[in-house]
Amino acid sequence: MQIAFTKSALPKTGAVVIPVFEDDDSALKAVDEAAGGALAKAAAAEFKAKKNQTLDIIAPRGLDNSRVILIGAGKSKAFKPLDAESLGGTAAARLLSTREKSASIWLQGFDAPGVGADEVAARIAFGALLRSYRFDKYRTKLEKDQKPALTRISIHTASTKAKTLFADLQKIADGVFLTRDLVSEPPNVLYPESFAARCKELEALGVKVTVLGVKEMTKLGMGSLLGVGQGSAKEPKLVAMEWMGGKKGDAPVAFVGKGVTFDTGGISLKPGPGMEDMKWDMGGAGAVTGAIAALAGRKAKANVVGVIGLVENMPDGAAQRPGDITTSMSGQTIEILNTDAEGRLVLADAIWWTQETYKPKAVVDLATLTGAILISLAHEYAGLFTQDDALASELAHAGAATGDRVWRMPLDKAHYEMIKSDVADMKNIGGKEGGSSTAAAFIGKFVKEGQAWAHLDIAGMAWSKKDAPTCPKGGTGYGVRLLDEWVRANYEG
Ligand code: BES
Ligand code: MN
Ligand code: ZN
Repeated sequence: MQIAFTKSALPKTGAVVIPVFEDDDSALKAVDEAAGGALAKAAAAEFKAKKNQTLDIIAPRGLDNSRVILIGAGKSKAFKPLDAESLGGTAAARLLSTREKSASIWLQGFDAPGVGADEVAARIAFGALLRSYRFDKYRTKLEKDQKPALTRISIHTASTKAKTLFADLQKIADGVFLTRDLVSEPPNVLYPESFAARCKELEALGVKVTVLGVKEMTKLGMGSLLGVGQGSAKEPKLVAMEWMGGKKGDAPVAFVGKGVTFDTGGISLKPGPGMEDMKWDMGGAGAVTGAIAALAGRKAKANVVGVIGLVENMPDGAAQRPGDITTSMSGQTIEILNTDAEGRLVLADAIWWTQETYKPKAVVDLATLTGAILISLAHEYAGLFTQDDALASELAHAGAATGDRVWRMPLDKAHYEMIKSDVADMKNIGGKEGGSSTAAAFIGKFVKEGQAWAHLDIAGMAWSKKDAPTCPKGGTGYGVRLLDEWVRANYEG
């Protein structure tokens, strides 16, 4: 999607989008003068300008425009940057369902008291861009009229700075789209080696990418991660992506992602129906990769490293068994009681290696870790587990600012107690109760004393079965914006 900002008058032809507040319809009035009041007449009956309400007026009388789409913006005083994104996304969705090739969004006279005109324009553009994402790679028989026609949106605004603001947002969208692509790829195409190859492409942005294979990981003693992958024909990989845009020599912050490219459950096999969903069990690794792409793309002034553990969890003659005891890189031993609790085993070694290699200021891990978090938080929030109140509050702020929302969940001594084993240093599952917290505690066993760390369980967030204003159904790219904003607010400048 091409997006341009312009000060020019509204085009006399083509499609036009006009946002309207419940309590202020100045933007609409200005255009409606030329239409001799036809728009107000069309709107009168049903259009209340409620948030994201749309009214598509085709060939309005008195104008040569093909259509005028009114979009509700709610109450002007309550209008926030995220509302601007939703509005842009809603406009794009409406336009994408038509055969219009280009459209203009009219923002002259659309003034929100609480948000600057630059930000309103840039965020509307950002929302429209985010909503225009498609993953059509494997749909080879789409008819021309099944593909969207819209390729260009012009934002008509008096703002001079919107374009600059949008330039950074566009890089963030690149990161979100990379994550959505990775999460959407089928598991026969995206497996550890091919995922690592996609990471290598970030070198073009100035990212240093290191890939460890089985040989290196065996040497390092990563028995926990390797145990998960040993039933697969695909070789596990560990990828480190370094973006060092900050002060030379400053310790980086680290993101660590669970990258299970397919999770069958292993010998503790999952039920068949719905198993295809487990192609996106690499959503944490996808988010980490997309976040590094966003940060590097916009040349963030911070040192950040993204580490992802990539494995496929398969049942096989060589697969790990319930009852096995593995030794992690940290030296701690693990009794495997359920081979389907594999994500934590991958993170254990990835997190340990990250601390040993980078001595990071803070570690945030992301993982589609437990079904239990869906029971707690549905698809509304990622679960946030940490004993660090400052870090919790930073992440909560970043979540609220970006819409990648997090909700703090408990993690304390009791949860650590629940994963004690009779035969090893710990077991890889607690009971059926508090499953997300015991999973977090398991990861916590691999976090060094004094290390700032938070864990995000994103099992409910990586994929969506329905459209949202700024995200078509499918891979959401959750986490990219959260991590980017967390770095921007706390580690840049
Ligand atoms: N990848 C799953 C978690 C998951 C479930 C993500 C549903 C998205 C949707 C994870 O590896 C898993 O299987 N967890 C088990 C843990 C259990 C065996 C302790 C679960 O949640 O059932
Ligand atoms: Mn599993
Ligand atoms: Zn899993």
